[in-house]
Amino acid sequence: MMPRSPRLDHDIERVLVDRAAIEQRVAELGERIASDYAGREGRLLLVPVMTGGLVFAADLMRQLPHRLRLGLVTVSSYPGTSTESRGAAIRGALPAGLEGAHALIIDDILDTGRTLTLLRHEIIAKGAASVATCVLVRKDKPEAMATPCEYSGFDIPDEFVVGYGLDYDDEYRNLPYIGVLRREVIR
Ligand code: IMP
Ligand code: MG
Repeated sequence: MMPRSPRLDHDIERVLVDRAAIEQRVAELGERIASDYAGREGRLLLVPVMTGGLVFAADLMRQLPHRLRLGLVTVSSYPGTSTESRGAAIRGALPAGLEGAHALIIDDILDTGRTLTLLRHEIIAKGAASVATCVLVRKDKPEAMATPCEYSGFDIPDEFVVGYGLDYDDEYRNLPYIGVLRREVIR
């Protein structure tokens, strides 16, 4: 086996969404969300989906001038070195304070839609006043396009991507852009 380079860039075949494009789009999404929620009565609860939604949520929340709270939720769908979704499962409890709140679910990517569909249902069942979803990227495939999602940053080809929160076997989340992993790297 080839020794692994400490530089993550070396494992990337091509960049799909670069750092500047992400920054600009996050600001645009923030403005839209800010204006959509400006007139609403009640609490705003951001629900970042761990672990991939962490980077996007951290950037997006700083674009919002509202009083808000964070409630983390952990969902897993890609065990270990798998690059295929095995269905979504919530790990642990849903965040507290959902009842009566305006919940905005924040995730890195919309792929099969299982994660967002599951969370939407569970959060409505907890008595939220409203639920909306926000993803940075959405894969151009029928299941993703058919999944309700109020805010989406970019549509990308249906390929396995990493960076800006997205991982392969828990690595690459810290890349500041979204790119396609070289085939040789996938085990
Ligand atoms: P879905 O439930 O199939 O829509 O998938 C959503 C979850 O799968 C996301 O929260 C990601 O963590 C993960 N995921 C989907 N596509 C990719 C990808 O291309 N790279 C890395 N993770 C992905
Ligand atoms: Mg995820």
